[in-house]
Order: sequence, then C-alpha cells, then structure tokens
Amino acid sequence: MKARLACLSAVFAIAAWAAPEPATPTVDASDLPALGKNWLETNPYRGNAEIAELGHQIYSQTCQRCHGPDADGSRSPAADLRRLDAYCLRIEDADLRAWCTRDVDAYFLKSIRHGKKFVGTVHMPPWEGVLSQEQMWAIKTYIETRKP
Ligand code: HEC
Repeated sequence: MKARLACLSAVFAIAAWAAPEPATPTVDASDLPALGKNWLETNPYRGNAEIAELGHQIYSQTCQRCHGPDADGSRSPAADLRRLDAYCLRIEDADLRAWCTRDVDAYFLKSIRHGKKFVGTVHMPPWEGVLSQEQMWAIKTYIETRKP
C-alpha cells in the first residue's frame, strides 16, 4: 500500500511538473512525402536518414521537454522512448520481428494521437491536430535511430 501511494504521488508529481499544452513545431516539414488522409499502421519512412534528421528537429521542439534530449528518457520523468522498439530488435525470427515492429508502430501512433490520461490527469497532451501524420512518423523514424 505504501509503495502504491509512493508510486501514485510520483505520478502526480510528473503531472504537476509537465505543462500539458502541446507545442507546435516551427520546423518546415513540407518536403516530407505526403501520406494522405488515412492513418497508417506502420512507419512508411523507416530507415530514411534525411527524414530521421528532420524528425529529430521536430522531436526537439515538441517531445524533448518531457522525454529528454536525444530521446534519452533515462534522465527524464516521461517514458524512455528508445526502449519501444528494443524488445522487437531482440527477436531473431524476421516475420515475428516485423509483426512486433508493426505493433509498436500502431501503439506509438495511438499514444501520440490521443495523448495519455490517468484518472483524469493529462500526462501527455494529444498531438492529433497539432502534428501532421507525416511529422509523427518522422519523429518515430528519428527515435528508431536511437537504440538503447
Ligand atoms: C508534457 C509532457 C510530454 C510531452 C511534451 C510529450 N510526452 Fe509523451 N508521455 C508523457 C508521459 C508523462 C508519458 C507516460 C504517460 C503514461 O504512461 O500514463 C508519455 C508517454 C508517451 C508514449 C508511450 C510510451 C510508453 O512506453 O508506453 C509515447 C509513444 C510518447 N509519450 C511519445 C511522445 C512524443 C512522440 C512526443 C512529442 C510529439 C511526446 N510524447 C511529448 C509526457 C509527454
């Protein structure tokens, strides 16, 4: 019970620390290949170094303040985003690994589109309407270059 209370107060400390207003990036992302109106389930830009660089800039303006500079969440209160794909990378079977990566992609997009709420407290604001789908996948492409 004590541990649970300590855990809850840590969660509320994060919520109080984090201003939940999403920041609009000023990086020019108009060169990103257009993805259309439908939400994709997997990262269409994976492995593209130029897009990863652009994603890094967008990340720095929008996610860094909570998830840490260079996506190194080990020093930040919000989740370490580098470990999202780490689990899949350990899977040797290529088909299973691809399946796992698709799952992580879908989870990533859902998390940022809708944000994260915990008993009514906003931990992460929703980014849908602030970031385009192109910008969201560019950020993911950058995070994939940051293996733990
Ligand atoms: C205001 C602080 C804040 C900002 C800004 C922010 N996040 Fe978050 N994010 C959080 C917190 C706190 C959590 C953990 C919430 C929870 O699990 O209840 C989280 C969780 C996540 C998760 C789920 C991680 C997991 O391990 O389950 C993803 C993915 C994510 N954020 C991506 C992003 C991206 C991409 C951006 C930039 C567009 C961003 N976040 C900006 C605070 C923030």
